[in-house]
Amino acid sequence: MHRRIAVLSGKGGTGKSTLTAGVGRALAGQGKRVLLLDLDVGFRCLDLMLGVTDRLVFDLGDVLRGKPLDDALLPAPDRDGLALLAAPAALPDDPAPFTALLCSLESRFDFVLLDFPAGKPTLLSAVPVEHTSALVVATPDEISLRDAVGLRAYLPDGVDARLVLNRFSRAALRRTSFADLDRVVDTCGLPLAAVVPFDGDLAVGAPASSTSPARAAWQRLAQRLDGKSVPIPAKKI
Ligand SMILES: Nc1ncnc2c1ncn2[C@@H]1O[C@H](COP(=O)(O)OP(=O)(O)O)[C@@H](O)[C@H]1O
Ligand SMILES: [Mg+2]
Repeated sequence: MHRRIAVLSGKGGTGKSTLTAGVGRALAGQGKRVLLLDLDVGFRCLDLMLGVTDRLVFDLGDVLRGKPLDDALLPAPDRDGLALLAAPAALPDDPAPFTALLCSLESRFDFVLLDFPAGKPTLLSAVPVEHTSALVVATPDEISLRDAVGLRAYLPDGVDARLVLNRFSRAALRRTSFADLDRVVDTCGLPLAAVVPFDGDLAVGAPASSTSPARAAWQRLAQRLDGKSVPIPAKKI
């Protein structure tokens, strides 16, 4: 079944784009047809993360102005089934073509991951609620978690939203006023979709290694998004 996943955060820099690329890659590795849609207008980065910047000519803005989708799709060089549509230079004035484009993707992709900018997700109201769920990405610090709570006000009714706690470590959680993970979940008011551990390679801008704990968490999250029941390992949290 076709699924859209809106990747959101209240605060910037929580790891949305990294998660989008990692989970998209994991879903494609599980045999799914996956499109990453970079919606971080003016601040795109998924082309760099996928290593396709040299081939980037057309973006979402061009497609909304009538360019064929196939001219703008950027297949990932090292992962079958994964493609990117790069972010436009400006938000579309009229959201209707964006909504129509999303609907037209239903037959071509099993998953469309929408990488939103931080803060109020302006284009989210143009995303059809049916088939759409949201991942709210927060880091274990007071500001990020408060902003995750604030973001709930912008979630359309009917969209299933879940929390991803990224860059997680017990030490980081201890520095907050939250006694444990349950308190974090209670405060955010969102069910927990995943806990992605702090990864030293990612933190310094290097790719996740093959043994990266973050990569393993992306794979588990991808399986959950695909409807499988995969518990969060207790020893990681
Ligand atoms: N699990 C993680 N552990 C450590 N660093 C991470 C992790 N996830 C992302 N990062 C790093 O955090 C920074 C911000 O990530 P990015 O995906 O660009 O955030 P956003 O898209 O929310 O602005 C990047 O340097 C990225 O490599
Ligand atoms: Mg980003």
